Order: sequence, then C-alpha cells, then structure tokens
Amino acid sequence: MFCLFAGNMKMLNDGVSLLNLNLRGRRICYLCAVSPDSLGRLFCISVCRRALALANANRVVEEIFMRKKLLVSSLLAGVLGVAGIAHVSADGHMAPTEGKAFIQYITEKNDYTKWPLFPGKGKLYKGAHPHGALLTTYVSPDAMKAMRDKKGVIPSGGIIVKENYTPDAKLDAVTVMYKKAGYNPDAGDWYWIKYAANGAIDKEGKVPGCINCHRAVQGNDWIFTGPVK
Ligand code: HEC
Repeated sequence: MFCLFAGNMKMLNDGVSLLNLNLRGRRICYLCAVSPDSLGRLFCISVCRRALALANANRVVEEIFMRKKLLVSSLLAGVLGVAGIAHVSADGHMAPTEGKAFIQYITEKNDYTKWPLFPGKGKLYKGAHPHGALLTTYVSPDAMKAMRDKKGVIPSGGIIVKENYTPDAKLDAVTVMYKKAGYNPDAGDWYWIKYAANGAIDKEGKVPGCINCHRAVQGNDWIFTGPVK
C-alpha cells in the first residue's frame, strides 16, 4: 500500500496515511480520524485499508481532500458502516456501547488516565476478589461531580474505570462501568466491560457475572468502592 496523500502525510511502516492535525497535540489518521497509538493503530489500519481500497480512484480521494477533514472522515466512516467511530459523529460526547470503540473512546478520545481518582482512593490501593490485588480507579469528571454532590446516582455518560494489577503491580486487566440512560434499566443502566492489558476484550455488555455480584450494592448505584450519596 502506498500513501495517496504524499506531501501531506507521513508514512508509517505499515503504510497508514497520517496527517498531523495538531488535535490536542496528537497525530490522527486523515481518513478515520483515529490516533494511531496502541489500539487505535489496529483500528485505523483495518478501516483505512478498506477506505483506500474503495477510494482507489484518486478522484474520490481528491474530493475528500478538499473538504473539512474531520467531518469528511466521519462521513466516510459512516459510508463504510464503521460502527467504531460512532462517537466522532452523531451522539457527541456519549461513549459507544461496543467494546472496541468504547476502549478507543476511553483511551484516545477521552483519556481516562487524566480523570480524577475515585474519591478517597490513591493509586494502587489494595483490592479484593475477583478484581486485582492492587487497584487504581478513575472516575469521569461528570461522575465525580455527582459523587461529590452526593446525588446518589451517576448521571448518564458517567464512567468508572478500574485498573486491576497483579501483586507485583503489573497491569493485568481493566474493568469498566459506563452509565448510559436506557441501556439496561433492569440493572442500573450500566454497560460493563473487562479487557486485558493488551486490549483484548474479555467480557462486555450486560455481563451477568458483573451484574450479579454488583447487585449487592444496587442501593449505591451498583458501586462498591465508596458511597455515592
Ligand atoms: C464477585 C463479585 C464481583 C464481580 C463478579 C465483579 N465485581 Fe466489580 N467490584 C467488586 C468489588 C468488591 C469491588 C470493589 C473493589 C475491590 O475491593 O476489589 C468492585 C469494583 C468494581 C469497579 C469500580 C466501581 C465500583 O463498583 O466500586 C468496577 C468498574 C467494576 N468492579 C467492574 C466490574 C466488571 C466490569 C465486572 C465483570 C467483568 C465486575 N466488576 C465483576 C465485586 C465484583
């Protein structure tokens, strides 16, 4: 594969076309608007291979080039039916409830490691079964505000990301709860996901295992770590 935008793009070894849009200082792909770091890279490669295959006529590519970059990127993705970039377009700040796209959202679009830590907890605090021996838990700013204000529930859009570490402080897995109004009214409207340190998804969605255990604290909006009211 070769770069169709030579001059504007930097080539990576694997031939993904990149443009430095200086969006929060990150390089993002011209076509899919995804950062090529870590997981995004795999995503980008698969999307853009398809995109470039379809756009093999330079005409199409030139047309894209003339228009607004992000808008066109998301449109193109839409045309290709790529669910993974849903967050770029229609539903604004809401994270998608699809594993890969969700992980991408919390690692690239809205990097969770920049969020505040769960109130009263530091980094690498002691955890209990079934989660890690050591835990670091981040709370999205909107969820944080609800907790601080003792609202009793996390608002739709709120996300809690818990990193699970081995006893010798190696990242083992990430477990997440994401509140989306109407997603699962029978169980607090939480979307659950567990993925390995390398990004491989273990479980996601309305996961019975997660739900059944966390049900014990449904009066606290299904959250164990500390009070929400
Ligand atoms: C057997 C019970 C149990 C199961 C199963 C379980 N959890 Fe937990 N979870 C806990 C406990 C207890 C905590 C509090 C942290 C700790 O002490 O380990 C917790 C904490 C969390 C937190 C931090 C917010 C909170 O509720 O305190 C998240 C996020 C989370 N779990 C996600 C998940 C996901 C995703 C799954 C399923 C893949 C899952 N949990 C399965 C018991 C469970």
